[in-house]
Amino acid sequence: MSNSAPIGIFDSGIGGLSVWREIARQLPREDTIYFADQIHIPYGPRSLQEIRSFSEAITRFLLDRKCKMIVVACNAASAAALQHLRAAFPEVPFVGMEPAVKPAAETTRTGVVGVLATPATFQGELFASVVERFANGVQLVKEVCPGLVQQIEAGRLNTPDTREMLDRFLIPIRAANADTIVLGCTHYPFVIEALRQLAPGVNVIDPAPAVARQVDRVLQERGLLCAEDRIGRHRFVTSGDLDQYQQILRLLVNVETDALQMYWEAGHVVKM
Ligand code: DGL
Repeated sequence: MSNSAPIGIFDSGIGGLSVWREIARQLPREDTIYFADQIHIPYGPRSLQEIRSFSEAITRFLLDRKCKMIVVACNAASAAALQHLRAAFPEVPFVGMEPAVKPAAETTRTGVVGVLATPATFQGELFASVVERFANGVQLVKEVCPGLVQQIEAGRLNTPDTREMLDRFLIPIRAANADTIVLGCTHYPFVIEALRQLAPGVNVIDPAPAVARQVDRVLQERGLLCAEDRIGRHRFVTSGDLDQYQQILRLLVNVETDALQMYWEAGHVVKM
């Protein structure tokens, strides 16, 4: 694997761009390929087995494009597939997502933490293991947030209907007196402003900066950091609607680009 090879990043949609933008900020020399599997969004309500097969095929697609590392910028895919991917591609470094229960449990004063995520994330062994290792007697109030991923995909970030939805998800979290909220889905940092307005004084944790630091550490350990003094190039791929994708890239991360369209055929990601 070469140092100048790109970092492959994927999510069910545009949520992983919250991780991509931190990687691009912290590691400006690195090239990236970002894959949004928008034809299959949302992943959250799907079975872990189905998410695992999507994740494996997308990983193959990114490795075929010579990626030196894969960032699973999706909590649902990390819960369903991270262990499997590491076993299936033992030579490839992977970085995945896990809900930030550890920093939340360390900093909460009320001893109550809200966790916003999708059903797949709460189902996986990864979440159970994070809770077992780090919750340390802290009470977790879990909310699955139906429909929120779709609102964010549609670019409806701080609109009255999204605020109303968030307000509803916050009811049990407020009632339990949580002072910290963990964003356990990579889409949710795009509504962090709205959440902070609706829950003043509550500490809302976006895990992306810590994940980007982990990407840096792993590349460093493996001697894979880009050594050239240059500005990284970024490519964006979707399995969904290209125009919509380009619009949301502009809106969310200020990227103007000709994105690439890929398709699914017999369980593989292909170009027509
Ligand atoms: N962004 C993804 C995550 O972090 C999931 C969204 C979805 O349900 O597709 O879990």
